[in-house]
Amino acid sequence: MGNYILAIDQGTTSSRAIIFDKSGSIISTGQLEHEQIFPKAGWVEHDPKEIWDNTREVIGQALSKANLTRHDIEAVGITNQRETAVVWDKTTGKAVYNAIVWQDTRTQSIVDRLAADGGIERFKPQVGLPLATYFSGTKIVWILENVEGAREKAEAGDLLFGTTDSWVLWNLTGGTDGGVHVTDVTNASRTLFMDLETLQWDDDILAAFDVPRSMLPEIKSSSEVYGTAHTSSLLREVPIAGILGDQQAATFGQAAFDTGEAKNTYGTGNFLIFNTGEEIIHSKNGLLTTVGYKLGDAPVHYALEGSIAVTGSLVQWLRDNLGLIGSADEIEALAKTVDDNGGAYFVPAFSGLFAPYWRSDARGALVGLTRYVNKGHIARAALEAIAFQTREVIDAVNADSGVPLTELKVDGGATANNLLLQFQADILDVPVVRPVVAETTALGAAYAAGLAVGFWDGLDDLRANWQEDQRWEPSMDASERDRQLRNWKKAVTKTFDWVDEDVN
Ligand SMILES: Nc1ncnc2c1ncn2[C@@H]1O[C@H](COP(=O)(O)OP(=O)(O)OP(=O)(O)O)[C@@H](O)[C@H]1O
Ligand SMILES: [Mg+2]
Repeated sequence: MGNYILAIDQGTTSSRAIIFDKSGSIISTGQLEHEQIFPKAGWVEHDPKEIWDNTREVIGQALSKANLTRHDIEAVGITNQRETAVVWDKTTGKAVYNAIVWQDTRTQSIVDRLAADGGIERFKPQVGLPLATYFSGTKIVWILENVEGAREKAEAGDLLFGTTDSWVLWNLTGGTDGGVHVTDVTNASRTLFMDLETLQWDDDILAAFDVPRSMLPEIKSSSEVYGTAHTSSLLREVPIAGILGDQQAATFGQAAFDTGEAKNTYGTGNFLIFNTGEEIIHSKNGLLTTVGYKLGDAPVHYALEGSIAVTGSLVQWLRDNLGLIGSADEIEALAKTVDDNGGAYFVPAFSGLFAPYWRSDARGALVGLTRYVNKGHIARAALEAIAFQTREVIDAVNADSGVPLTELKVDGGATANNLLLQFQADILDVPVVRPVVAETTALGAAYAAGLAVGFWDGLDDLRANWQEDQRWEPSMDASERDRQLRNWKKAVTKTFDWVDEDVN
């Protein structure tokens, strides 16, 4: 029996393999970034082959750093950037186009076309999501309509679709040599195609999108054995036993298993997930209804989600596009060169605005500028934007649930930033709490896999692993908080109605 679980975290910016022990502690990590491809304004792509090559390599890194072999690994869990769509040829194993990333807005005209009959909430009763470029369904349609020969091949049953969990699983289990074509309920709930009640693809919706059902993976629970790693893999014969989309995985890794529990992840974007238990709750305040997790045959848990497209990626943008900082962590020192935002508010509507607004016509704006504003103020405004957007999503959760959150569990790369988390506590007026293991995404996938093979006995084992690292208490005056929120909301309105039909 192996003493460890290996989690593959196929993220937006990098792929990681992390090995965990029974206490949920990290034993070793392998990590490689992949190229972010921006062919045009609003387009974001990844190379699926690079993603799979990196995944294989980081598995090797993690094993060799810890001096372990496949015999030490009891099971593998997969977590992934959600909604990012890969379409590949099942006979060659090659993708027919780059992966179209969740942030990509090229499918707006497909959204408009589908919304012409019934509006953007047309499928929301079944799938919990509005029509938006964000979700994978519209990206599949784009590939079928724009890649030469794709439609014919898809109709002939030669093409497969998957989010990157399915792409990694199919390749890890052998690819053209018997690869398993499966996704889990959490990833399936982000396509626009899965009925939340039946947890199956909805044929009427597939017909409306004109997507052949034969392309789609089989939907399974988040915790069961899907297959074993192929003999050509370093992990050969190790069962792959857990899949959770990254945000659901982080929720699971935070041990937020019960109704009313929540977490907020600060990564490329920010994603707040609020567990609603076995009940499907339709938001009246701009949140998505999604699947939280499903363990084998046990009942499914649903969640409300507040998705924010641009948070940590705004910090990357200041680094890569403006050269304001040399690395993401330098933003804290730069922001500390000033006492406040100097009147500047930065609304990073680079992919339109997601929750709670869902305005695809919005684009980014930096407002309140005067001669006084310097780069320190802009750094601060960028960090504050992360916190303000989170505040608006939490207001929506509180309004939908009727029971205000009394503290916020956080995780993700940007939670290394103390200034950000103090401002977050101030602007929320509730404490912010960070656990010892900040890699909750990978941990959640490890938990799902470990539960399936009996490595952990049950959820109580996992709850016992959760430990608080640090806590930030609110200390801002109510009047100051109100003034800043008022300004923020005004700034948000300045981003609306920017995209005209002839501008992307
Ligand atoms: N000290 C910091 N202050 C603010 N932002 C930071 C800091 N350190 C990292 N970040 C931001 O956090 C993000 C990385 O966090 P994380 O690795 O959790 O992201 P992610 O979304 O999970 O990435 P992936 O999708 O590849 O998994 C980057 O966008 C980066 O700009
Ligand atoms: Mg991540």
